[in-house]
Amino acid sequence: MLIAVVGKGGVGKTTVTALLVRRLLLARHVPVLAIDADPSNCLGPALGIPIDRTLADLRDLMRDAPDRPASMSHAEWLAIHAEDALVEHNGFDLLTMGHPEGAGCYCFVNNVVRAYLDRLTRSYRHVIVDCEAGLEHLSRRTAAKPDRLVSVVGRAKMSAETVRRALEIYSNLHDGTLPQVDLVLNGFESGDPLATRLAEAAAFGEAPFARTFTVPWDAGVSALDGAGRSLLELDLSSPALSALAGWEGA
Ligand SMILES: Nc1ncnc2c1ncn2[C@@H]1O[C@H](COP(=O)(O)OP(=O)(O)O)[C@@H](O)[C@H]1O
Ligand SMILES: [Mg+2]
Repeated sequence: MLIAVVGKGGVGKTTVTALLVRRLLLARHVPVLAIDADPSNCLGPALGIPIDRTLADLRDLMRDAPDRPASMSHAEWLAIHAEDALVEHNGFDLLTMGHPEGAGCYCFVNNVVRAYLDRLTRSYRHVIVDCEAGLEHLSRRTAAKPDRLVSVVGRAKMSAETVRRALEIYSNLHDGTLPQVDLVLNGFESGDPLATRLAEAAAFGEAPFARTFTVPWDAGVSALDGAGRSLLELDLSSPALSALAGWEGA
């Protein structure tokens, strides 16, 4: 399954992505590929992995490719070097995309990158992508369509608007269709009336969210984040992790 986690910056996308990776690992839904598609490169640290090289670094290197022998295609060069941006770690792999293209024409190299990603993602049971705010990015970078969207909404009204707009953009790009969309209300206690209002504001079109998970503010998450430690160390009984129990099923 290709799962895309979307939402406004700061709502907890990276945190939720890391917690969902943990849920997949706990349920032994492996192998998992986690992709950080947000240029701020935060997913690695949230999973306890320092980032050395991003796929964008390699794309830029490939564009100039000083060491590429004439007999080697760009695709072959990337397949060999992309290992540098792919980190293996305790049952899952992490790929950090890095910054979007800079000046100059990247059409050709981006096509090579897209082909590489499409091939790579086929080797995993689940691929989960921590996206940047919009969905344009995902649709541009890879031809694959997500099987499931996880929309994250926080306590700000704009975070609901962002989700609704992202769903609209996605639907417009895909002939009016949407995959299964789950909603994660992050930073709410269950029964909070604000959560209900924002969930309504985030819905796009007639279809309600397939499932809704209410994740509370969690001191364990804050403590690990503040110490720069991995969210994979979070206690199994932690409220945030528990709130997402069962997400990996159905
Ligand atoms: N449920 C939560 N409990 C405690 N802290 C959280 C929770 N969700 C997010 N945070 C904190 O809020 C900040 C922003 O979260 P982050 O996941 O980086 O957002 P985003 O990826 O959407 O920009 C981080 O410091 C993170 O640790
Ligand atoms: Mg983030």
